[in-house]
Amino acid sequence: MASRENIVVGLDIGTTKVCAIIAEADEGGVKVVGVGLTRAEGLRRGVVVNLDKTVESIRRAVEEAELMAGVEVRSVYAGIAGDHIRSVNSHGVIAVPRGGVEITRSDVARAIDAAKAVAIPMDREVVHILPQDFTVDDQHGIKDPTGMAGVRLEVDVHIVTGAVSSAQNIVKAIQRAGYQVTDLVLEPLASAYSALTEDERELGVVIVDMGGGTTDIALFHEGAVRQTSVIGLGGNNVTNDIAIGLRTPARDAERIKERFGAALAHVVSGDEEIRVPGVASQHERRVSRQLLASIIQPRMEEMLQLVVREIRKTDWGDKIPAGMVLTGGASSLEGTAMLAEEVLDMPVRIGYPMGVTGLTDSIQDPKYATAVGLVLYGVEREHEEARFSGRNDDSVWQKVLERMRGLLGDLFDGKR
Ligand SMILES: Nc1ncnc2c1ncn2[C@@H]1O[C@H](COP(=O)(O)OP(=O)(O)OP(=O)(O)O)[C@@H](O)[C@H]1O
Ligand SMILES: [Mg+2]
Repeated sequence: MASRENIVVGLDIGTTKVCAIIAEADEGGVKVVGVGLTRAEGLRRGVVVNLDKTVESIRRAVEEAELMAGVEVRSVYAGIAGDHIRSVNSHGVIAVPRGGVEITRSDVARAIDAAKAVAIPMDREVVHILPQDFTVDDQHGIKDPTGMAGVRLEVDVHIVTGAVSSAQNIVKAIQRAGYQVTDLVLEPLASAYSALTEDERELGVVIVDMGGGTTDIALFHEGAVRQTSVIGLGGNNVTNDIAIGLRTPARDAERIKERFGAALAHVVSGDEEIRVPGVASQHERRVSRQLLASIIQPRMEEMLQLVVREIRKTDWGDKIPAGMVLTGGASSLEGTAMLAEEVLDMPVRIGYPMGVTGLTDSIQDPKYATAVGLVLYGVEREHEEARFSGRNDDSVWQKVLERMRGLLGDLFDGKR
C-alpha cells in the first residue's frame, strides 16, 4: 500500500458536486488512485449555506475515493471560489541592503511584503499572493532576482482575497468531516494547473471554468497570473431557463440539457424532436431541439459576454494570443466552443485535465479540471516543503516534479 507521505488529495467543493481525487506521487509521476464524486448539498455559488449538508457531502466523496484507493485521507488541498472573491494587482519596492551586492530570498520576501501592504479590509482574507515580475534597478521582466546584484528591487504581484467567513466555513466543513486542510486554492488557478500548457501561459491565455453556480476566470501572460475574477452565473442558470421556457421540472430540465442541449441554435436541425415531461399533472409534450437550443444560447452568450467584459476591464484582455480554454461541467454543452469563438472572436478549446496517470478514464471530463489541478498544485507544494525542511523524501518529489514540468511547465514557483 502507498506510504502516506506520497499521497496528495484534491477536494473540489463545487455548487453541484463534491469531488475528491486521491493521487500517489512517485518517480513515475502523479497517479490517480481514487476518485469520489457526490452531489453537493448545502452550497450556493461556492459558499456554504448549510454546514451539516456540506459536511455530509464532503464525507461521502472522500470516503468513496478512500475505498477505491485503499488509503486513509488525513489532509486535503481544497478549492475556494464564489462571488466574494476579489483580486487586485499591486506593486512593492524595497532598497536592497548590503550595498546591493546580492539579492537574497529574504529581500524577495520583503519586496512581496511591501506589495502586500495595500489596504486589505479586516473582513477579507488573503488567499494568494502571486508574484508576476521583478524589476532590479531599471531592468524589467525578471522572473527570479535571487543572486542578482542591484540596489532597488521592485515586484508586481496579483493578490486574491476572499470573505473571511466564507473561507472559514469551507475549512470548518472539511474539518468537521474529519480532514485537515493543507491549503486553500482559488478554483480557476487549480483548473489552470491541469488544463493549460506552459506555452499557453507564456503566450497569454484565459481559462474560464464554467461550473454550476459560478464562472471563474484566470488570465495568464508571460507565465504569470495577471487577472482573476468570478462571475455569479453558471450552468444552473441555463437549467433554470430550460425549466421555465419548457415548463418542465428542474430535474428533467437538467437531463434534457445534458442529453439534447446545444449552445448554438443554427447548427441544430429543426426536425429533431424531444419529449418534455410536464409539471404536475400536465401532459408530456414534444418540442424541437432547435427550440431547446434557442433557450440555451442567449444565456450562454450572456455568460461569455460577461467574461469578455471582465477581461476588457484590464489591459491584459488583448494580450491573450493563445485564446480561451473552457473547463467546468457547463463547457460540456454541445457547441460551446463554437459559440465562444463567435462571441469572442478568438481561438477557443475545451480544457480536459492533463498531467496525471492512473484512473484517467474516470476523470476525462472538463468538470474534473479543478480537482485534478488541486492535486497537481499539492504535489508542487509538498515538494517545496520537502526542499525547505530538508526532508529525506525530497528526491521523490523532485523527480515527480520534473515529470510534471515536462507536461505542464513551471507554474507557480515563488508563490509564497
Ligand atoms: N454534458 C453536459 N452538458 C451540459 N451541461 C453539463 C453537462 N455536464 C455537466 N453540465 C453542467 O455543468 C454544471 C456543473 O459543472 P461543474 O461540476 O464544473 O460545477 P461545480 O464545480 O459543481 O460548480 P461551481 O464550480 O460553479 O461551484 C451543471 O450546471 C451541469 O448542468
Ligand atoms: Mg467548480
